[in-house]
Amino acid sequence: MKVNDRVRAARLLHQVIGTGLTTDQAFAKAADPIPPVCREMVYGSLRFFFSLSDQLNAALHQPLGRKDQDIWALLIVGAYQLHYMRIPSHAAINETVNACEALGKPWAKGLVNAVLRKIAREKKPERTFDHPQWMIDLISENYPEQVTDILEANNQQAPMALRVNTVQISPAAYQDKLKDAGIPGNSGWLPETLVLETPITQEKLTGFVAGLVSIQDAGAQFVPELCPLKSSARLLDACAAPGGKLFHLLERYPRIDATALDISASRLEQLQLQAQRLGHETFTTLEGDASNLDWWDCDPFDFVLVDAPCSGSGTIRRHPDIKVLRHKEDVSKYAELQLKLIENLWRTVRTGGTLLYCTCSLFAEENDKVVNSFLQLSSGVPEVLEISLPVGEPTQFGWQLLPTDENPEKYTDGFYFCCLKKAASIRPHQENPMQKIA
Ligand SMILES: C[S@@+](CC[C@H](N)C(=O)[O-])C[C@H]1O[C@@H](n2cnc3c(N)ncnc32)[C@H](O)[C@@H]1O
Repeated sequence: MKVNDRVRAARLLHQVIGTGLTTDQAFAKAADPIPPVCREMVYGSLRFFFSLSDQLNAALHQPLGRKDQDIWALLIVGAYQLHYMRIPSHAAINETVNACEALGKPWAKGLVNAVLRKIAREKKPERTFDHPQWMIDLISENYPEQVTDILEANNQQAPMALRVNTVQISPAAYQDKLKDAGIPGNSGWLPETLVLETPITQEKLTGFVAGLVSIQDAGAQFVPELCPLKSSARLLDACAAPGGKLFHLLERYPRIDATALDISASRLEQLQLQAQRLGHETFTTLEGDASNLDWWDCDPFDFVLVDAPCSGSGTIRRHPDIKVLRHKEDVSKYAELQLKLIENLWRTVRTGGTLLYCTCSLFAEENDKVVNSFLQLSSGVPEVLEISLPVGEPTQFGWQLLPTDENPEKYTDGFYFCCLKKAASIRPHQENPMQKIA
């Protein structure tokens, strides 16, 4: 590993902690491919950001100023190497010190050297939860029995799950290809799901460029199980980009009449690129705001998927930046938007049709509580369909997957699903209208 990797890792980390970009955004902006070791330093530094920051703060005589947050990022990267990477301490310290020159701050060399030497003499931070306190409180409020398991699971590396593009190749034939390439993988919850024993880069994934496979969490792959579509069904994916769930539905039901709506033009561009790669080009794309109906031609849909913007608290293993970037107030802001989206999109569901609401959040405030508010507002017309999946647990109105669920080979991210059917006629309001799924 070179000085350059540390410089890049520090710059990327600084973009996240200093300017609020997500890791995905910071990585996407990079001119050259980011080496795996550099990714590891960024993800690892964010995973253990809170305990590393405490240790560094204690080692610094005075806090660094705002304009030196790049040096702060470099120190975090240095401390991460010392405690979590198998690099001799002297090499980690020297190379990190040398990175100060490339960051244009040679004056910081003495400081970085002294602080990292001190850290090297100290132990790795004690077992710590490495989450902001508000998140720990909210997780323990929601899951009093499972809080420690969830916090610990959030600090693990996520497994790499694949979805075989069954329009192009059978799961068995793709698994043979993986075997031939020396990439060990196991089957997942669904026939088209495979979970690699060791995560690899997209570039090294057999058949990725040819569209034989997509990288998608095993929990996200349950969506088609909850969407029993007729071949000619009209489907709206109201928050579609970058298209993972839409493409899975098109792989299961290639003849449906699908519309992909999203508010973000740049994310829709990503969706189009993935559609070309996978060979799914039979759907309509609309750029629009799902909280109004300006984009709608008044032709109702049989099925509406609302994969709503959310806190992402179920995907922290994959996106440890969420622990640093999200604030407590964001959760209620998302809940407000989520309710607005369901209320508005409900109008586009035909009578007898279904709306599937999902989030990758662990918090009831974005899940059952949003559904509850919607049911209160909609005079009992929606019927809540009962969901049952092979993993996870039922909630008042839907189903919750957790990042801790049993079988390590089949781990999923945290997801919430709720299916609402538009009844044929208005029924009197019920407290908890549940109807068993057929
Ligand atoms: C969780 S992501 C969707 C992921 C996607 N369904 C998939 O499986 O790949 C949420 C999406 O909602 C979009 N979004 C946020 N607010 C929206 C709005 N008011 N109307 C439509 N889309 C919105 C975001 O741009 C983002 O692409």
